Amino acid sequence: MGSSSKTGGLHKAMTVGEVAARSGVAISTLHFYESAGLIRSWRNPGNQRRYAREVLRRVAVIRVAQRAGISLAAIRDALKTLPNERTPTTEDWSRLSATWRADLNDRINRLVRLRDQLDGCIGCGCLSLGVCPLRNPADKLGRLGPGPQILDPTASDH
Ligand code: FES
Repeated sequence: MGSSSKTGGLHKAMTVGEVAARSGVAISTLHFYESAGLIRSWRNPGNQRRYAREVLRRVAVIRVAQRAGISLAAIRDALKTLPNERTPTTEDWSRLSATWRADLNDRINRLVRLRDQLDGCIGCGCLSLGVCPLRNPADKLGRLGPGPQILDPTASDH
């Protein structure tokens, strides 16, 4: 069997151009992914990069996660949790995508809240640190009750 993997031996190794063509990702991006530790290659005797075919699925996972707004660092960390840094199996994908879905929901919720706060500020323009939820994202006045608080002209705006 030699050094062949389950899904293909070295004779099926791909050049970076082939990976780019098959994945729809620019060569420069593939090089960036590699420098960031997201994908791997090896050098052939001619010192040219070669990639296992499995890299296509790995790149697909990276792209989908990026579209969901996951940082490359978080993607790399997630991929590193896989045994031997393997290409995600169906089960791996289910676990990773569930985690990313939760992250996405969290960001959606924060954006919806921000949008609603912005709605309340449109037409106001006070931008008061004491009143404005956009200026006061920690909601320091939240303990005073829901909704806008009465503007206190003596409140500091610093
Ligand atoms: S501008 Fe945000 S409450 Fe006035």
